[in-house]
Amino acid sequence: MKILMVCLGNICRSPMAEGVLRHLAAVRGLELTIDSAGTSNYHVGDAPDRRARAAMKRKGMDIDSLRGRQVRVEDFHHFDRILAMDASNLADLRDLAPDKAAAAKVRLLLEHAPQLPWREVPDPYYGGEEGFDQVFDMLLTACNGLLDELARPH
Ligand code: 4NP
Repeated sequence: MKILMVCLGNICRSPMAEGVLRHLAAVRGLELTIDSAGTSNYHVGDAPDRRARAAMKRKGMDIDSLRGRQVRVEDFHHFDRILAMDASNLADLRDLAPDKAAAAKVRLLLEHAPQLPWREVPDPYYGGEEGFDQVFDMLLTACNGLLDELARPH
């Protein structure tokens, strides 16, 4: 199973989601391919935002070595699931998808957290540190929900 997390810049939400899912998969002993990307090219080659790295370190997770990249059409062939942080990312990804099967791989990450009252992970870029902790909690719930779903027999 190959999973791609996507946000706008690939320096806040999606690298955090990648780090959280990597951590949880390792704890469960699951071998998944996990990556993240941005719909924009604003932060290609950049490390995750300092506040995202700090929020992850507070939880014992390290995403310092990740670097920003932009989503590309080949991602729709390589990955089984492409998980968007918000509705804008979802719409951009569906526009980029090369065909219907590819578009169907794209979902909102928070579909895996139906117990939460939100459908989108809010962009924390223009806010304070606390926004990153709130994003972390949402990502933790959704990534656990995703792994629970993958573990269920179909
Ligand atoms: P992200 O946050 O999409 O969660 O990585 C953002 C990072 C940078 C920008 C916007 C959102 N930006 O406009 O530079």
